Amino acid sequence: MTTPDESLARIGARLREELFDFLRIPSVSARSEHREDVRRAADWVGRHLRATGFETEVVDTPGHPVVLGEWKKAGPGAPTLLIYGHYDVQPAEPLDLWTSPPFEPEIRDGRLYARGATDDKGQLYLHLKALELLMGSEGRLPVNVVVVAEGEEEIGSPSLLPFLRDYRDRLDCDAVIISDSQMFAPGVPSLLSSLRGLAYVEIHVQGARSDLHSGAYGGAVPNAATVLARLLASLHDADGRVAIPGFYDRVAHWDAEARAAIGGLPFDEEGFREETGAPGLQGEAGYGTLERLWIRPTCEVNGLLSGYTGEGAKTVLPARAMAKVSFRLVPDQDPDEIPALLRRHLQAVAPPQVRVEVRELHHGRPWRGAPEGPVFEAARRALTRSFGREPVLTGEGGSIPIVSDFEKVLGAPVLLLGFGLPGSNLHAPDEWFPDAHLEKGIETLLYLYEELEG
Ligand code: BES
Ligand code: MN
Ligand code: MN
Repeated sequence: MTTPDESLARIGARLREELFDFLRIPSVSARSEHREDVRRAADWVGRHLRATGFETEVVDTPGHPVVLGEWKKAGPGAPTLLIYGHYDVQPAEPLDLWTSPPFEPEIRDGRLYARGATDDKGQLYLHLKALELLMGSEGRLPVNVVVVAEGEEEIGSPSLLPFLRDYRDRLDCDAVIISDSQMFAPGVPSLLSSLRGLAYVEIHVQGARSDLHSGAYGGAVPNAATVLARLLASLHDADGRVAIPGFYDRVAHWDAEARAAIGGLPFDEEGFREETGAPGLQGEAGYGTLERLWIRPTCEVNGLLSGYTGEGAKTVLPARAMAKVSFRLVPDQDPDEIPALLRRHLQAVAPPQVRVEVRELHHGRPWRGAPEGPVFEAARRALTRSFGREPVLTGEGGSIPIVSDFEKVLGAPVLLLGFGLPGSNLHAPDEWFPDAHLEKGIETLLYLYEELEG
C-alpha cells in the first residue's frame, strides 16, 4: 500500500494551489449578492468528487445546493461512511481588520489565512483530497463512501433536513464523519463528544411612533433603548445564571465522572484568557471555564440597535430598540421551547408602556454522542498514529445543528474529528488553518481508511 507521504509527495504543490482556488470563491451563504459564488463553490466540490470517481449530483434546494457524491463499490458487507462538510462561509466583514484579504489565501508563519480556511472549506478539502489520493493509489476505497456537502450551514441548514429525508435511502450509513471543529490544543488531537445547540431570536421594543426630541418628551415618554437595556439585564442573575423561569428545567446534568474527565484535561486557562484579550473571565457560578463552554447553557446578546450612534451628540429619544440574542443549549433542552419561555419572562418584566416582540431566527439541537464503536476506535488509532499521542475526548461550545438530525434520521453515530486549532479566528477577521495540518489531516484520514479496512 502507498504510504501517506508517498501519496502527498505525488501531488506536491497542487495540494495548496487547489485549496487556494476553493478558498478564493466567496461562498458567503448569508448574502444574496453571493448566491452565484455559493453555487460556484458547490460546483467546485462536485467537479472534485466526479474527478475522483464519485457519482455526483449538485442537488438544487430552495436555498443553496447540496452536493451529493457516492462511491459504493467496496463490495458486499463493507461498511458505509458518510462524510459531511459545508462549503459556505461566514461573511468576512469587517474587511479592514484582515491582514490579507479574506478571499486571497496567504500563508504566513505556518498559518494559512483565508475565510473558510478552518470553517469549513479547508477541512472539507482534507476529506476530498484523502479520497482522491486513495483512489489514485489503490484504485478503490476500503469502505463505501457518501459525501454530503452543504452550502447553508452558516445560516442554520434550512434545506438539509428536508434533503436528508428526501434522499434517506441513498444516505444509509454506518457512521457519519465530520471535520468542522478544532483540536483541544496544538499537538493534542481530539474527538468530540458533545456540541451545544442554539436558539436565536431578536427582541424588538417599540415605544413612541417615531423618535422624539429627548428634551421636549424625555422623562414622560418611554425610552425604547432604556427599556431594552432593563430587559436584557433581567436575563441573568447575579450568579451568572440565566434568569428566565423554566430555562434549566430540561438541562441534563453531567455526572461526577464526566465532570472529572473535563477537569482532568490539560487546559491552560490563563492562555485562553490571554487569547481573548479580555481582562478576566466570567460565567455561571459553580462551574469551571470548560464546563461553562461545553456543558452549561448560556444567553448572549449578539447585537444591539437603537437611537443615534453617529458622530457627535444628538438629543433624541429612541422609539425603537432591537437586540439579537442567542441561547446556547445543552442536552436535553429543546430549542423550540426557548422563545416561548423568553416571551413569558419578558411579558412579566416589561413595562406596559411599550410593545415587546420576540422574533425567531434559527434553531439547532444540542448533541451528546456515545464515544464508542468500531469507527470511533479506528479514528482513535488513526489520530494516535499521525499525532503520536492518544486523542482526548472533548466537548464543544459551538453548534452544528445538523448533527443530531443525522443521528435521528440516519440512525448512525456521528464522529467529530477536527483539525483546526483554538484561536483560529472562526467567523472573525484573520481566520487561519495550521498549514502543516493539511498534510497531518490527510495523513490521519488515510490512516483512518486503513484502520477501517482492519
Ligand atoms: N464549525 C462551526 C461550529 C463550531 C465552532 C465547531 C467552533 C467547533 C468549534 C459551525 O460552522 C458554526 O459556526 N456553527 C454556528 C451555528 C450556525 C447555525 C450558524 C455556531 O456555532 O454559531
Ligand atoms: Mn463550520
Ligand atoms: Mn461556522
